[in-house]
Parts: sequence; C-alpha cells; structure tokens
Amino acid sequence: MKKQVAQLKANAEGNLPLLQITDTHLFSDRDKDLLGIKTVQSYEAVIDHALRYSSECLAVLSTGDLSQDHSAQSYVNFSTHIKKLNMACYWLPGNHDIQAIMLPSLLQEGLAQTRQIISDYWQIIMLDSQVEGVVYGALSDQQICFLEKALSEFPEKHTLICIHHHVLPMGSKWLDQHILKNSQPFLDVISSFDNVRAVLSGHVHQAGDTLKDGVYFMTTPSTCVQFKEKSDDFSLDTRAPGYRYLSLNKGGDISTHIERIESGAFTVDSDAKGY
Ligand SMILES: [Fe+2]
Repeated sequence: MKKQVAQLKANAEGNLPLLQITDTHLFSDRDKDLLGIKTVQSYEAVIDHALRYSSECLAVLSTGDLSQDHSAQSYVNFSTHIKKLNMACYWLPGNHDIQAIMLPSLLQEGLAQTRQIISDYWQIIMLDSQVEGVVYGALSDQQICFLEKALSEFPEKHTLICIHHHVLPMGSKWLDQHILKNSQPFLDVISSFDNVRAVLSGHVHQAGDTLKDGVYFMTTPSTCVQFKEKSDDFSLDTRAPGYRYLSLNKGGDISTHIERIESGAFTVDSDAKGY
C-alpha cells in the first residue's frame, strides 16, 4: 500500500474547521435519479449551501459512495462541484464505488487518494472498508495494520478516523446488516491508543452521534436520499439532503453540527421498496 500523506495547516486559533460531504451517489447524467432524487442536482444544491463555509473551512472529507453508476463522468461530476468550495478534498471509497474507475478518474481531476492527513494538533486517518461486490464493510488485515501504524506514528496528536461503513449499530435492522462486520479488531486497536477522539462515517444516510468509551462515533446525512432512523425495514426519510460541519479544535474537542438545504426542493419516491 502506497504511503499517501497530506499536510494540512491549522487556522490561526490552532483549529481545523472541516466539512463532511458524503454519499453523493452521482450519475454521469445530471437528470438521472436515485429513488426520485436527481443526485447530481441535489449535490449541486448542497455545494451551493456549503459555499458559506468556503472562507472558514480548510478541507472537505468525502466518506464514500461518490458514484451510483460507476462511470468515469460521475467522478468528474463529483470533482467539478467539490472544487467550487476552494478547499482541499480528501476522499475514501464506499460500497457503491468501483476503485478501478474511481482512482484514475479522481487522480486525473487532481484529487489523488490520501490516507493520512497530518496537521498541527490532529491526524486524520482515511480507511478503506469496501468489500467488493457486497454492501457490508470489513477492514482487511492490511487496513488494520495501517491504522495501528498511523496511530503509533503520531501518539501526541488527537485523531479522527474516517471510514465509509458505520461501526456501531444504528438500531435499524436492514441497515445494520450492512455494518462494518469486523468491528471488533477495529475497536480493539483504537482502544489501545488514548488519542482517538472520533470516528466519522457515511453509508447510513442519516445523522448519528454516539459517545462510546470516550470516542465520538458520528454519521451524516447523504447529499441525496435519507434513510429513516430506527426503521427495521427499508424506509426513506423525507428530510432534506445535508452535510456536516466539524471543527477539530486544538485541545482535542470537536464542535460539530449538521446542515441541510431547504426542505421541499428534492422529493424522494415514497413508494420505493428497496435500495
Ligand atoms: Fe450510500
């Protein structure tokens, strides 16, 4: 595995204000929809909303499922709009991405893959939990080793770990089948370090925030369709597309909130029975 490391300087206060934009599920075609929502258009609306953070935030973290149709053009669409934010962009793959297309397409757009982001007081680690061909996630031995090594390298820095799949159950039977399956080795590694502050995921298309053993586990709305919280069966939520603001503060605490575009601009197909 290549060492792909970026440096990101904190702001004048020593903090790292960031955005998380996740699960864009883009098509090559601007008019194609996923469960009633034209995903390129809802993504554009989210980016327009997020422009208010352009002068404050230093980077955007994109936590997987960038594409829905796996076309090279869908990744170009991702890149074209994310660049409007005028900040660094770090991304990782989700179950819907095809890395053989994703990597070269994004690289060509100047968005090389980064696995470690080193800042003044923080380290951000980008993991790959994709298991090709299935919806659930798992971390390979190689990824677990990389995590352990990255954490050992910077024991003095607070750490945020980004991973597409959710690590803790959301209390939603259908979604929890598609969780990170081998969460135990992951939890074992992070509990052996005292500097892991938070784990940030996409995948579940809903906001979540759970504190477990001193670590915040956060999930975030998608820029397109939302899944209903605590639903045992597949069910869509009518809430608007959104994203997360988070500031990794110098002292190790995190200020964070969810932002959504105005409701009613995009409507899901309420008869949809699956995903
Ligand atoms: Fe997704």
